[in-house]
Amino acid sequence: MREDLYSILEISDREIAKSFAKKLKVKIGTLDYFNDNCIYPDADLIKKILDERPNLSEIEIKIRLGHIDNEVLTLLQNNVKNIAEYGIPTQANPFQRQLPEPNFATPLGRLFNADCIQTMRNMDDNTVDLIFADPPFNLDKKYESGMNDKISKTEYLNWTEEWVSECVRILKPGGALFIWNLPQWNTYTAEILNRYLNLRHWIVADMKYSLPIANRLYPAHYSLLYYIKGDQPNRFNKEGLPLEICRHCGGDIKDYGGYKNKLNTEGMSLTDVWKDISPVRHKKYKNRASNELPLNLLERIISLSTNEGDLVFDPFGGSGTTFVVSEILNRRWIGTEIGPIDLIQERFEDLSFPTFLINDIQNSKNALFTEDMKKIRRKNNHWLPENL
Ligand SMILES: C[S@@+](CC[C@H](N)C(=O)[O-])C[C@H]1O[C@@H](n2cnc3c(N)ncnc32)[C@H](O)[C@@H]1O
Repeated sequence: MREDLYSILEISDREIAKSFAKKLKVKIGTLDYFNDNCIYPDADLIKKILDERPNLSEIEIKIRLGHIDNEVLTLLQNNVKNIAEYGIPTQANPFQRQLPEPNFATPLGRLFNADCIQTMRNMDDNTVDLIFADPPFNLDKKYESGMNDKISKTEYLNWTEEWVSECVRILKPGGALFIWNLPQWNTYTAEILNRYLNLRHWIVADMKYSLPIANRLYPAHYSLLYYIKGDQPNRFNKEGLPLEICRHCGGDIKDYGGYKNKLNTEGMSLTDVWKDISPVRHKKYKNRASNELPLNLLERIISLSTNEGDLVFDPFGGSGTTFVVSEILNRRWIGTEIGPIDLIQERFEDLSFPTFLINDIQNSKNALFTEDMKKIRRKNNHWLPENL
């Protein structure tokens, strides 16, 4: 487990932090920066720290911060026999993993109103075909569960490692793991996952998620990590996208010159930049106040990486988008949500509207033009594959 710099230095409150900063002749803000961001102090600061705390060493600080660079690694490797004697305890008799009765069930799914880590501990190794996770972003959002969404970076990263490790364990060989988060968090999550799984894509979902900030680039994408267990995915059902056309006249936006008849009639290849994912804002489509992902995102992920009958798991159910899409697409599913689950249950009372929307999404893909696009193009005399 990573520790905070302040806990390593035994700084337990603000006054002690301030007087320590004074002794070091550095600003308290400088110490806070390294502490809050889990960053290893620069050479000048580490020297000052070690002068004040002679009982500590650079190596100890690095290891306790979780900063395993080549120097630490070499030291561990050189002493591996001694360290191995302490070992990581293995369970003599691994306990029987068994899921309890769900709090809500459908013909294909089971939902647990519980902590995802506890639930995953009751799930067998190598059993899930697809895991989709949209964890809280630690942005101080108000969740119905009343959970604390503003914990220290160290706590958030330790917690992330815990749930991600369980996801890795329950994922089938060849199964897919998708994690939706802010890029800043997914850099750390990727570091954990790179130890166990195989990165297939870092997907960018082109979507503005906060207001412009002075002296920064305008944050305009979410990161969607796509990993698989092992070399080859069990499933990869390609998706073709319609061409982008002018919204008003239906005409081409790009010039395809003499290549029009070479374009794949099953649509343009999906890239790792997804521009067609929009936040759920309209009341008609929204099932809860915040943090609801759109149906088309889950439809794409589930269709791409599973077949009918496969098992999907989502640890952070929220409004239940993953479960609704799984059910409609005939996938078995397991989910957890620590907060209230009544909204999820209500969504299942009538699936006709989401089923209509999912059908619409599916009818609009794997073709160069949708039926609506064809209509406007015909009307305005733009080319169509059939009359080239
Ligand atoms: C970002 S939201 C997920 C939204 C969801 N993808 C949707 O489309 O509605 C994260 C959810 O995770 C839940 N959550 C947080 N910690 C959890 C935990 N340890 N176990 C299970 N659920 C948790 C929160 O209550 C919140 O509803």
